[in-house]
Amino acid sequence: MRILVLGAGGREHAITWKLSLSNPSRLFCAPGNGGIAEAAECVPLKADDPVAVRQFALQNSIELVVIGPEGPLVAGVADALREERIPVFGPDCSAAAIEGSKAFAKAFMERWRIPTARHVVFTRGESSRAHRYIDEHGTPVVVKADGLAAGKGAFVTENALDAHAVIDDLFTRGLLGAASDRIIVEEFMRGDEASVFALTDGRNFVILPPAQDHKRVFDGDRGPNTGGMGAYAPTALIDGPLLGRIIEEIIEPAIRGLAAEGKRYLGCLYAGLMITAEGPKVIEFNARLGDPETQAVLPVIDVDFPGLLLACATGGLDGSRIIGPSRTAATVVIVSQGYPGRYETGKEIGGLAALRNRDDVVVFHSGTRRDGDRILTSGGRVLSVTGVAGRDDLQTAIASAYDAVGQVRFEGAYFRSDIAARGLRYTGSRNAQ
Ligand code: AMP
Ligand code: GLY
Repeated sequence: MRILVLGAGGREHAITWKLSLSNPSRLFCAPGNGGIAEAAECVPLKADDPVAVRQFALQNSIELVVIGPEGPLVAGVADALREERIPVFGPDCSAAAIEGSKAFAKAFMERWRIPTARHVVFTRGESSRAHRYIDEHGTPVVVKADGLAAGKGAFVTENALDAHAVIDDLFTRGLLGAASDRIIVEEFMRGDEASVFALTDGRNFVILPPAQDHKRVFDGDRGPNTGGMGAYAPTALIDGPLLGRIIEEIIEPAIRGLAAEGKRYLGCLYAGLMITAEGPKVIEFNARLGDPETQAVLPVIDVDFPGLLLACATGGLDGSRIIGPSRTAATVVIVSQGYPGRYETGKEIGGLAALRNRDDVVVFHSGTRRDGDRILTSGGRVLSVTGVAGRDDLQTAIASAYDAVGQVRFEGAYFRSDIAARGLRYTGSRNAQ
């Protein structure tokens, strides 16, 4: 099969790595990064340009396009490829609204009775109503931009002063531009978070091992939200019965609802969940695999990955099923000092060569570029270092990941030191019961 992957991050490196294990006849990635270049042929295409991607796919007889990030989905790249009957893993732009517009997603969940936080939507012209709402309903509340904000559009506010300030930032000071023409104010949910990925052909679906992300920048889940500082899979937070409930109450109604509303959903439906005392509730849906969860999930499954993605892309899944984990993995993201705020790039990365031949470690590149023989940093999130161990051996997976992280060097490298520690606690409490 001739495959094209779109994107340039750690998730896309993990996707190309997994695809490459099945030896596809050609594997391209656009635009790719310094690490992806080892697993695929990188092409200097703009991934969110529907015309350029379609032209490349036609000229190179591409048989499957796998879309990594949300940008190309919302830009209509899947639509443009499907017009040419090229199989695409990734929903059409109208279906990607489940991620691209939080207001759409919340209304969709209400229509299909999918459990989620109560919410109200305000447009930019209604800012005084939004402020009044805070005064009347109190805090904590979560204030969110309606549109895409690279994981940085949700603000959990503990007191009214902060809530008012966030509304001002979004509506008056233009913090997130057009993404906050509408905002959502929603109920704060208490609980632990998990990410569940359903790969679907619009009717049937395959559930991957649930993962847990670490969104805050500092240890102990402190500091601002980021795109993700680490992840592990599977998570003991979600046992068999809970996964069954998530499928029944969330995944099935969502896939059925999208189909019933005429939205063609071929790709990954990502449910970002809060496991509350009342049960699992949706924080958000995404129209793609998660980053960095993918860097932990793909190393733990044994599956014909190209075949699975092609089946989703062509409506060919043969029934629904859960893929169980064959291993355990923990991913630590190394970022540039200053991320998610301002940071410098162009720092030379050392120590990668020694990690190549380890079978307990896979290094995925998130923001790197090649400069001759050197690998330089080129983004906020730089590397996703995944430690892999046997089933139910999260401790060893964590130890391998941190051992490898300790060998990587670049100026201003920063990482959390408590990735997956929470996962050990779930296991511990279960064993203690
Ligand atoms: P989102 O951009 O919607 O994924 O939100 C980013 C993060 O904000 C989530 O991963 C949660 O940690 C937090 N968050 C969002 N919505 C809520 C909510 N309703 N209750 C509690 N925490 C939330
Ligand atoms: N890990 C969070 C996301 O991919 O949106």
